Amino acid sequence: MAILLSTKAHTMQDWKAALLAVDPSLEIRLFPDAGNPDEIEAAVVWTAHDMMELRRYPNLKLIVSMGAGVDHLLRSPGPPPGIPVARLKDVLLTSAMAEWVLLNVLRFHRQDPEYRALQQRKEWLELSAPSTAERRVGILGIGELGSASARVLTSLGFPVMGWSRSAKTLPGVQNFHGAEGLVAMAGQSDILICLLPLTPQTRGVLNARLLSALPRGAYVINGARGGHMVAEDMLAALDSGHIAGAALDVFEPEPLPAESRFWSHPKVFLTPHAASITIPASVAPQVVENIHNMRAGRSLINLVDFSLGY
Ligand code: GLV
Repeated sequence: MAILLSTKAHTMQDWKAALLAVDPSLEIRLFPDAGNPDEIEAAVVWTAHDMMELRRYPNLKLIVSMGAGVDHLLRSPGPPPGIPVARLKDVLLTSAMAEWVLLNVLRFHRQDPEYRALQQRKEWLELSAPSTAERRVGILGIGELGSASARVLTSLGFPVMGWSRSAKTLPGVQNFHGAEGLVAMAGQSDILICLLPLTPQTRGVLNARLLSALPRGAYVINGARGGHMVAEDMLAALDSGHIAGAALDVFEPEPLPAESRFWSHPKVFLTPHAASITIPASVAPQVVENIHNMRAGRSLINLVDFSLGY
């Protein structure tokens, strides 16, 4: 039996080598060269893979996402019925996201855009410098990624709030939940960070209503998915000055089209979905463990709950 890998061509060999380093006995096939469809028992796939294509494999028993997010696997038509989906939980994936969040929180907190503008004008001017205790940070989503970012930010003295869809308590963080909690937290967030899973409930959460609930001059950081943001609403809030700056790693669609205003907006700091990139060698042990679990009929790890969407 064989494992099907499907991702960007340039990372396919890294994935293959990483899985074989953990279990050299695995038979790995690189999409589109799947060989005999009857022999595919697991598929390890990334965003571009067509879920209808996976219906070609009658003996498929496991799908693994190559990232923390699984929205690309769950949206219509979804995985073949009855096939479990696992996602990745990985210390490097989590810490890279915390680094990217910290980079951007500090960029805005330490007024880096303003200092760059002063430098351009050769102007020697010291700006008022609020302490971290005066800069309130709200995090949407306090799962794996959100809680790691919260830990880093609280260690620097930022007052951190966290929002989740249903009630959840994260120590050291002021917790909010539900629709009312969302607006209540936004009203106190000088910096709002989105690290939510993308589900039908969270799609478009960064919309005009939420953005207008933020204090005037707030900053927004989105490291989750482009689908969380209503692009026109974000641009309007930046243009009006209500939002002072945005750090955006994710867009819909990706790659971001050349004609998008985000590319050249002076208040936007963008990265090309690069905040946190899966390192195959780091995640291969958990992928192989799940393949072994699946073969032995044991329970799977990091399983996605279809009812929650993550
Ligand atoms: C990256 O976007 C991931 O889902 O890991």
